[in-house]
Amino acid sequence: MPHNMTRIGRRAFVLSLGASAGAGMFAMASKSRRGSDDQEDQDRLTRDKPRDFSVNGDASLRERAAAKGLLYGAAAREQVLTSNPDFASAFARECGILVPENELKWQGIRPRFDRFNFKRADELADFARDHDMLYRGHTLVWHKALPAWFKEKVNSKNAEKILTDHIKTVAKHYAGKMHSWDVVNEAIEVADKRPDGLRKAPWLNLLGPDYIDIAFRAAAEADPKALLVYNENQLEHYNKPRNEAKRTQVLKLLERLKSKGVPVQALGMQSHLGSKPLGSQGKKLRQFVKEVADLGLKIIVTEMDVSEKLPWDVAARDRQVAAIYEEYLSIVLDEPATIAVMTWGLSDRYTWISKRIQRQDGASVRPLPLDAQLERKLAWNAIARAFDHAPQR
Ligand code: G3I
Repeated sequence: MPHNMTRIGRRAFVLSLGASAGAGMFAMASKSRRGSDDQEDQDRLTRDKPRDFSVNGDASLRERAAAKGLLYGAAAREQVLTSNPDFASAFARECGILVPENELKWQGIRPRFDRFNFKRADELADFARDHDMLYRGHTLVWHKALPAWFKEKVNSKNAEKILTDHIKTVAKHYAGKMHSWDVVNEAIEVADKRPDGLRKAPWLNLLGPDYIDIAFRAAAEADPKALLVYNENQLEHYNKPRNEAKRTQVLKLLERLKSKGVPVQALGMQSHLGSKPLGSQGKKLRQFVKEVADLGLKIIVTEMDVSEKLPWDVAARDRQVAAIYEEYLSIVLDEPATIAVMTWGLSDRYTWISKRIQRQDGASVRPLPLDAQLERKLAWNAIARAFDHAPQR
């Protein structure tokens, strides 16, 4: 081990050695499970051939992304960031941009119809500023996280004014300081069977499809400097026909908006990944991001993490999660229109997935770059390698 390595460097170096040593154990382990589920073994990205997750040096994800003209950051919770100094310093080390996990949603910022409370979101904005980070907003329009007063206060007569007033108030509050806004989130739901694929969300029911145009125009007027993003989930999945239908509808929506001069400037791909590798489907993902870029849009990976319930040991799970990250990012970062990667959290200590996924073995979930002790995992290595191998912007 090179003598001049820092503690973090030693971790990354040892981690990479562990990764290749683990390969041997991993291969033996998989052989012992061979009969358990061949399909599952097929899904092991690293089943027999040891993957090399090694990285050079101990530069942070923030530094590795910046070296290629990219941004890396994560979602953060104000209460967590302001009360955990160890986590705060890890966050400042690894992240060049911060997005509030919940503090800028209607529920988080507007406790009463006639009252905005920017305190928590401002704390996060201040943290970003104090650590030379950029700040991005999530989200101005969504069908979830609506406050309790919404239903009783908002109707088809006042909806447009309430929507535009909300967007202008919030976007103006951060005008000039916001890298980008998720203006509209998750507007497509093919299961709702509308020809335009739009989700039967409150704003659609109140204002019709033009609610999206109205939202983007209001955001552009309130903060002309922010990059305006349409954010969507499940664009990365290929396991059901409806995934392809969703990608088609998202492209059609973006084309419609662009043709009407609506100021949408980027697609946010949430990127909540599963534990199945893309494999040959990777070429469809590559094609999709190219079609988005061909519309003149930027791409931001906005909420990346990996949910897995694999019945494997931790080392094997970590290798699979790392391989999923590297496979996905190597494709998306190949597209020059991709400008930033956000994970939905930085450490396994604070992930929404722990509420969403209960593993049968009762083990903790391990979706993010740092473990619960804030140590770098193979997931960190995989993301670092993806930035190191990405084309220069
Ligand atoms: O803050 C209240 C707390 O006062 C109360 O005691 C508690 C009772 O359950 O709820 C707390 O609010 C919760 C909030 O997270 C803050 O922890 C909400 O109930 C809970 O619904 C909310 O969940 C968030 C979810 O979005 C819905 O807003 C998750 O943390 C957040 O990770 C998740 O993030 C979404 C993105 O915004 C959009 N894409 C999908 C992603 C994952 O679902």
